[in-house]
Amino acid sequence: MRILQDFELSFQRELKSIYDNDEIKSIFLLVVEELLGIKRIAYQLNKGDSVSETDSVRFLDILQDLKKSRPIQYILNRADFYGELFEVNESVLIPRQETEELVDLIIKTHTDSSGLKVIDIGTGSGCIPIILSKYLNEAKVTTVDISKEAIHTAQKNAQRLGQPVHFINADILEWDYIFSDQQYDIIVSNPPYITPKEKQQMQQNVLDYEPALALFIEESAPLIFYDVISSFALKHLVPDGDLYFEINQYLGFETKDLIEKKGFQQVQLIKDIHGADRIIHAKKKA
Ligand SMILES: C[S@@+](CC[C@H](N)C(=O)[O-])C[C@H]1O[C@@H](n2cnc3c(N)ncnc32)[C@H](O)[C@@H]1O
Repeated sequence: MRILQDFELSFQRELKSIYDNDEIKSIFLLVVEELLGIKRIAYQLNKGDSVSETDSVRFLDILQDLKKSRPIQYILNRADFYGELFEVNESVLIPRQETEELVDLIIKTHTDSSGLKVIDIGTGSGCIPIILSKYLNEAKVTTVDISKEAIHTAQKNAQRLGQPVHFINADILEWDYIFSDQQYDIIVSNPPYITPKEKQQMQQNVLDYEPALALFIEESAPLIFYDVISSFALKHLVPDGDLYFEINQYLGFETKDLIEKKGFQQVQLIKDIHGADRIIHAKKKA
């Protein structure tokens, strides 16, 4: 019978062409927690434990999937975001750390407000609207996605995490036909923003498994969502309301310029923890 540490060695050996050592260790510890309920801090104490036949098969099945570059979050159907567990599958983007930074900025900026009306555009797993609903006092949060499957997944996450988010399945590019006179205090979006040219620099696990609909825009119109959503915001934000975007780090100045030309004020370009231009915060005229 094999012991737990044998599987760690197999993971290190078989995955080293795809991930670095730290990533492999982190993935392995997630699998150990999922299969055996052993928390990562307890692994050192338990790594000599023998592993049953059934669990050995499950470890090896997961390893096979990982070798095909399938992200661990899709294999385990879960991802952590802002301290909560979200169900994920191949119809939704795996929530990213940059997006946690966006959400954190919004929560900290509006910590003293209550009853804010918020709309998030591009729901995915529901990570943005669900966390804003949880942490902004009495906020009324709506979210829109073109993908029925994403909305379905996000609805399950909202229900499990007990957050009363309102979902709309629609194409935001057609917003004029969908919204009438609703007004929001905050509009936030992490829209698709990767150009086809950038594909060459991307990891295979993202390209092969994450939904193209969530990632890519056309080379000829890289700022289309920022253009359309800021027009939407001109009509549907209250005076002095806040617009937040996650952006393509290579298009920081162009995106800021576009939003300033639309007439927004105090347009700030904010860097993520890696020093890349990642967030825009702007205010509508008071
Ligand atoms: C970059 S993902 C962001 C998902 C999630 N908010 C997150 O941060 O993990 C963009 C999302 O926008 C949605 N989307 C793409 N085109 C859209 C459109 N025309 N109208 C509404 N949603 C759209 C995609 O389905 C995807 O869920």
